[in-house]
Amino acid sequence: LRTSLKLHTSLHTSAGTNVVAAREERARKDVTDEKDGHKSLYALQAERQGQAERSVLISYHSRINEKKFLKYLSKHGDINKYYFYESYGIYAVVEFGSREGVASLLEEAAIPSVNHEAMVPFKSRLLSLRNLCSADSPNQQSGPQCQPQTTVPINQLIQTLSKEGSIDQQVTSLTEAYQLTEENSRLRFLVCSLLKDIAAAYFPECTVRPFGSSVNGFGKLGCDLDMILDLDGISGRKTKMPRSGLSLEYQLKRANSERSATQSILSVIGECVDQFGPGCVGVQKILNARCPLLRFAHQPSGFQCDLTANNRVAIKSTELLYLYGELDPRVRHLVFTVRCWARTHGITSSIPGAWISNFSLTVMVLFFLQRRSPPIIPTLDHLKDLAGPADKSVIEGNDCTFVSDFSKIQLESNTETLEQLLHEFFEFYATFPFSKMSINIRKGKEQNKPEVAPLHIQNPFEISLNVSKNVNATQLERFVALCQESSWLLQQSETSTPRGYKEGSTPTTWGLATLLLPSQVAGIKGRKKRRLEPASVRIKGLLESLKNNQNPPKKS
Ligand code: CTP
Ligand code: MG
Repeated sequence: LRTSLKLHTSLHTSAGTNVVAAREERARKDVTDEKDGHKSLYALQAERQGQAERSVLISYHSRINEKKFLKYLSKHGDINKYYFYESYGIYAVVEFGSREGVASLLEEAAIPSVNHEAMVPFKSRLLSLRNLCSADSPNQQSGPQCQPQTTVPINQLIQTLSKEGSIDQQVTSLTEAYQLTEENSRLRFLVCSLLKDIAAAYFPECTVRPFGSSVNGFGKLGCDLDMILDLDGISGRKTKMPRSGLSLEYQLKRANSERSATQSILSVIGECVDQFGPGCVGVQKILNARCPLLRFAHQPSGFQCDLTANNRVAIKSTELLYLYGELDPRVRHLVFTVRCWARTHGITSSIPGAWISNFSLTVMVLFFLQRRSPPIIPTLDHLKDLAGPADKSVIEGNDCTFVSDFSKIQLESNTETLEQLLHEFFEFYATFPFSKMSINIRKGKEQNKPEVAPLHIQNPFEISLNVSKNVNATQLERFVALCQESSWLLQQSETSTPRGYKEGSTPTTWGLATLLLPSQVAGIKGRKKRRLEPASVRIKGLLESLKNNQNPPKKS
């Protein structure tokens, strides 16, 4: 295993280089093929993947002189970009102009000598910088400038928003404060690339790709990193069988089902990540889930990671969300605002449970935008009708076909402002017939509920699934109550009128900022009710039993 680990993490295998060169070439072509100024998700990912493969992650000391550090690195090759960030210490991400730069740097890196502990000699692109000289120049004491990797605290956001002059500006400003930065996005791809090096011990031609909010345009700083171990590059490559003569094929081990093959693969990769993966901690194998996955924390980046395999539908749904987000800027603005609003009121949570998920909320926003008159975004069925032959995609019997060429999509001219849309969103879901109807972005129209569940949102591609199956009645009621409250607040002139802000003074909370303050209804009342009800019922029972001179009721 050791030999194989070393062999495959070497960045110079000729096959690897060709694959990368071809991918980068395709990316260059795709970027120039940009339609309507929209970069395709595929091109964007290929570009980021290329950057990630030329990058290293270095644990850094603030005392070290930045110029000296760069001079040291430049000996190995040209540096395209570098930046620092803080996560339990300072880290530097350094992107070289070519993979040779990385290889040369790794060549020089030493295996640490530790006397009392044994080390797994797995060499990766996660390194530590040692300073063997005496103190550096004193002007470096403050350390390098670090790029933020987390969102601003909610109180700070409320203050920032209150300084804006309109609700539209508040919504835009919230998106800007919350969305992933260029650096954070690069770091996500770098973590994928580092994991690929680990998985490559078993599958040298594999790829690890991000999906979900890390790449669909709706990611907030600090969101989890969803990844797919993609082995299609190996198994999907069909070489033409010659008509005559000899030919060879690989002998492969058979598994009982695709699911059990996925479980076995994730199990061994999980073991490898756990035992040998630098910086990877708390590995959990969640192999019996509908979609088997590995969950762990990547400490140097601070990302909570979910690694799945054989999850092609999720790639399609990521592409679809990205496309919707690119069609009209109001889509992303509204999704960011609703997600932030929901998180502040505890409608969504980072802990899995009966809460509405961010993904469900996103689909709800998309559905709402399809229901505007005229619609702001088209239905999924319409996107399917526009698809060309190359867009055809059927995954495990699910039709995942939709158009990829943005220029084929004609949008209707809806001129509603963000303020109007936000208000209408709350109004729409405050009165939505959840008990009878299902939310369906494929048809762009509510459908009769096919099964009993408080909230039914049809999965866009696996149409027999309910995206929000986990949501219970209480959580849905809280969501509806908060929609009613927020809609009401936006109708009040005290909330909806901009308060003039004077530089240096404390801004008066107004507009969207008011909606982020603790709620008067669902939040506080809901919580109180839950805590008080059992006690009050018990006390009432006790009083009644005393009155009637009976035995107190038994504890339930
Ligand atoms: N997904 C899905 N069906 C679900 C849950 C998730 O198809 N019931 C897919 C979606 O493509 C989603 C991705 O898995 O985008 C990742 O799921 P998750 O991490 O829960 O959602 P994100 O969109 O990444 O949002 P967050 O920022 O909360 O991580
Ligand atoms: Mg996610």
